[in-house]
Amino acid sequence: MIYLKTPEEIELVRRASDLVSRTLGEVAKWVAPGITTQRLDTIAREFILDNGGKPACLGYGGFPGTLCIEVNETVVHGFPSGYVLREGDIIGTDCVVELDGYNGDSCYTFGVGEISPEAARLLRVTKESLYQGIEAARGGKRVGDISNAVQRYCEHEGYSVVREMCGHGIGKSMHEDPEVPNYGRRGTGPVLKPNMIICIEPMINMGSKNIVIERDGWQCRTRDRKPSAHFEHTLLITPDEPEILTTFRYIEEVLGEKDVTRGIPGTGEAADREDSI
Ligand code: MF3
Ligand code: CO
Repeated sequence: MIYLKTPEEIELVRRASDLVSRTLGEVAKWVAPGITTQRLDTIAREFILDNGGKPACLGYGGFPGTLCIEVNETVVHGFPSGYVLREGDIIGTDCVVELDGYNGDSCYTFGVGEISPEAARLLRVTKESLYQGIEAARGGKRVGDISNAVQRYCEHEGYSVVREMCGHGIGKSMHEDPEVPNYGRRGTGPVLKPNMIICIEPMINMGSKNIVIERDGWQCRTRDRKPSAHFEHTLLITPDEPEILTTFRYIEEVLGEKDVTRGIPGTGEAADREDSI
């Protein structure tokens, strides 16, 4: 059952989405060699609570964190822990905030200190694939158009797409219909209708697409233990281009020049600089 949102509901998801975006902006200030992932999780939880929200992942099906922590080969649903971040790691922080009964969901993958050119390219391609998916998410098109856009872009760049985990609708619940896979055929799947709200979240592997879920039933890593990256936005389908309800602006303000994905999606000066590297 796909719920179309009322204007009031859209406003509530917009607010929850802004709070989750600001939360990741807060996390961005602290991502550095030497910090534990548990500490990042606490920073996110306190920020959400201070701003009147609820950390929606915490306790969801027994999940033990505010953030899903995705270090290097961890694809999704990693637990916050005593692991100390090291120079060269990549870390995805996936977060859902509930505010006044509605949810916003976003994920960003950071480089820790200096990262390898190979890891930086994985981050750039994965982030760009999210925007390729968003561009395909126009009213009247189908979910498969999004899926195909993400898959085509990533595979063309030599990466693989995780099959087992998908994007999703969102609203009163963090996971609603439709499922939004990151692979598939154009022109298939549910029609995208104005006032649907969905999350697109490519999970992209440097090596093979295969994953392993740990015995805890949650933590998911690549089978070949090569790195995986993950970016996510919550967006509103309109008759035309979607409205992206979450934003990476707060993160990008913090990262500035250190942002290895600077200029994606490509606009103006930043894009030119990206191309000339
Ligand atoms: N963005 C993730 C998802 O859509 C958030 C999962 S939170 C958890 O699956 F509670 F399931 F861990
Ligand atoms: Co999600």
